[in-house]
Amino acid sequence: MDLKVVCVLSAILIIALSTLAEGKAPPTRCQCKQAPRERRNCGYPGISAVECRKAGCCFNSSVPGVPWCFAPKVKKVRKVCPNDAPIRINCGFPGITAQECERKGCCFRAYPAGVPWCFYHRMMEEAC
Ligand SMILES: *[C@@H]1O[C@H](CO)[C@@H](O)[C@H](O)[C@H]1NC(C)=O
Repeated sequence: MDLKVVCVLSAILIIALSTLAEGKAPPTRCQCKQAPRERRNCGYPGISAVECRKAGCCFNSSVPGVPWCFAPKVKKVRKVCPNDAPIRINCGFPGITAQECERKGCCFRAYPAGVPWCFYHRMMEEAC
């Protein structure tokens, strides 16, 4: 493997791990996009934007009379089979069948040549 591939794979691994360690990650813009009347208060009155975000909450002070520091929505993620062949992470072995691969819970695509055909999913955040 050349260095570029190693770098790409490391980046994917880091993304995958950070998805697992979710609680720690700050909320995404998507998680903070919610109607003002649906906000659940997350801070104390008068909390600053910095303190609010430090507590893992969302801050938006554009609407008066509703909580400005509010709890993020649950992140919705779904498994996708990445389309870009160069960054597939091998989940099987050469010659694995589609059934064997699917039994392992992985993605199977018998093309192109020279890349794993049985490979891991990636977690993608759903659009909001
Ligand atoms: C703040 O909330 C309002 C009302 O929901 C929304 O229109 C606006 O885009 C939000 N601003 C940011 C920076 O998210």
